[in-house]
Amino acid sequence: MKRFESKVAIVTGAGCVGPGWGNGRAMAVRLAEEGARVLAVDRDPERLAQTLDLAGEFRGSIETHLCDVTSSSSIQEMVAACLDKFGTIDILINNVGGSAAGGPVEMTEEVWDSQIAFNLKSVFLTSKYVLPVMLEKKSGAIVNMASTSGIRWTGSAQIAYSAAKAGIIQMSKVMAVQYASSGIRVNTVVPGQLHTPMVEFRLAKQRVGGDVDELLAQRIKRIPLGFMGDGRDSASAALFLASDEARFITGTEIVVDGGMSVRCN
Ligand SMILES: NC(=O)c1ccc[n+]([C@@H]2O[C@H](COP(=O)([O-])OP(=O)(O)OC[C@H]3O[C@@H](n4cnc5c(N)ncnc54)[C@H](O)[C@@H]3O)[C@@H](O)[C@H]2O)c1
Repeated sequence: MKRFESKVAIVTGAGCVGPGWGNGRAMAVRLAEEGARVLAVDRDPERLAQTLDLAGEFRGSIETHLCDVTSSSSIQEMVAACLDKFGTIDILINNVGGSAAGGPVEMTEEVWDSQIAFNLKSVFLTSKYVLPVMLEKKSGAIVNMASTSGIRWTGSAQIAYSAAKAGIIQMSKVMAVQYASSGIRVNTVVPGQLHTPMVEFRLAKQRVGGDVDELLAQRIKRIPLGFMGDGRDSASAALFLASDEARFITGTEIVVDGGMSVRCN
């Protein structure tokens, strides 16, 4: 029997900024490969279509749904669509997020607000509308995507992102205790500096004037294991936390960073 046979999973941000293995895309495809029926949620239809392409023979287990996870009404529609298509929700993976550069002086108030909405309020909102379904059946697993930027300085100021990701870690712990007696587990994956398409498509422009090689060299230098993981590595951690193998694990994190955050220099 496959690990997620008869489970229904929602993955937010199941597209990716470019072709290849972003985190949400890897999670959606891996869940389908391992037996789950998956609602792959994104606001961009083309990115979702690429996810289906990568799913190959497992694409039949994935339904796509357009949703903006910063919008309460859009999330309520998404939850209703999941119940309509699959009848229940067992797993919620909150994966949408991304950084904007700058400390408090450089960052505008508008960017701060949109970063918090995008990275943190989105997790509150999806939890708000999915938890009642899990509470009714007295079971469920939520996995939230944070970042090592939420626990360490990781090479550049991204004040709102860091604050939001730290907030996700603590929000997960609070929800974990609140809902433990209802059979619902809540954990966090804390990825470090991965080589996902986001590096080529956004970060290199944001950080080093588009010089991808320079950015990759900077990132690899910080990683004791000496190579960069990708979306499949954070997916491995997320799937473990979402699975019944983690039945005694709640309110904690798995850091997926090749040892970066434990090194002092
Ligand atoms: N890539 C990394 O190196 C890295 C490192 C640490 C943490 N993370 C975290 O992993 C998660 C995924 O990162 P990624 O780089 O794989 O993502 P990505 O940027 O490649 O893809 C994110 C997807 O989310 C979708 N999306 C954006 N806003 C949305 C919204 N409001 N509603 C619905 N969908 C929306 C986008 O269309 C895109 O398909 C994020 O939370 C990110 O902070 C990534």
